[in-house]
Amino acid sequence: MSLLEVRNAVVSFRAGDGRIRALDDVSLNVEKGETIAVVGESGCGKTTLARSVLGLQRLDSGSITLDGKPVDGVKAGQAATVGMVWQDPFASLDPRWRIKDIVKEPVSLARSNENVGQVLRDVGLDEGMAERYPHQLSGGQRQRVAIGRALALRPPLVICDEPTAALDLSMQAQVLNLLRDLQASIGCAFLYISHDLTTVRFLADRVAVMYVGQIVEFGPTEDVFNRPMHPYTAALMASAPTLDRLGHLPDPAEGEVPDPRSLGIGCRFAGRCPRVEDICRAEKVPPIDRGAQVALCRFPIE
Ligand SMILES: Nc1ncnc2c1ncn2[C@@H]1O[C@H](COP(=O)(O)OP(=O)(O)O)[C@@H](O)[C@H]1O
Ligand SMILES: [Mg+2]
Repeated sequence: MSLLEVRNAVVSFRAGDGRIRALDDVSLNVEKGETIAVVGESGCGKTTLARSVLGLQRLDSGSITLDGKPVDGVKAGQAATVGMVWQDPFASLDPRWRIKDIVKEPVSLARSNENVGQVLRDVGLDEGMAERYPHQLSGGQRQRVAIGRALALRPPLVICDEPTAALDLSMQAQVLNLLRDLQASIGCAFLYISHDLTTVRFLADRVAVMYVGQIVEFGPTEDVFNRPMHPYTAALMASAPTLDRLGHLPDPAEGEVPDPRSLGIGCRFAGRCPRVEDICRAEKVPPIDRGAQVALCRFPIE
């Protein structure tokens, strides 16, 4: 049994006079202690996936189980099972609370005696920070507090939604190293959401590549980076990051990203794909696998 199992998840939202499918038949598993990265352009559905796993977003159809138990809304004591680190540590920490109360919140909810000073030391902060308010900390320190709070109860799964996107480059490296060290000592699994391929390669055991609500490729990190099967993944990997694009996904291909309100049955990447054939637009795309690596593409790269 997987620690996290997402099966055929569909989430749609009303958008103008239509509906968009933010998640369209998404399946994904996370094993104990494993780091799974989810990469994709802004708007492809990454945060919707995270919110669904947390029970903050109801599925139209499909299922999500954590340790075999169905996720159905937010439950008391959930912080003991899933820790969450959001993108913006300023928005995610209540400005009126002292650091000690922020850290203690999930801890006391679960009636644990975890010590705030210890939590702060674990994330490389001075115990004296406990009495301060979020605005008295730097962005990097705030994200450390958020990480400490998420990991205080040693949950088996921690979700990080672009945890370094709001930080400057030197802070990003420190926070990444911290996440990796904590994972090694706690043994938790990570669902690590990012649009930064470099950090993904550094952290992840397996990578899921999302495009317009679907996972178009999923497999071991080095295989996905070195031998991508999906033309979208290949285009992403081929466009090397440059300084002005650091922290953003490169624009991988010419052509239009489809309007998510009016998707046909066929491949969403067809309009940008160099390998496209008529059948790609006309018929539903079957998943094709190469061992542990799977792509949603009729004509995957050999
Ligand atoms: N609460 C919502 N209501 C309507 N549309 C939403 C809502 N949340 C997300 N969306 C839409 O769903 C799609 C996926 O969004 P999101 O999951 O935030 O993507 P990402 O995190 O990859 O940038 C986007 O088109 C977004 O506009
Ligand atoms: Mg997001």
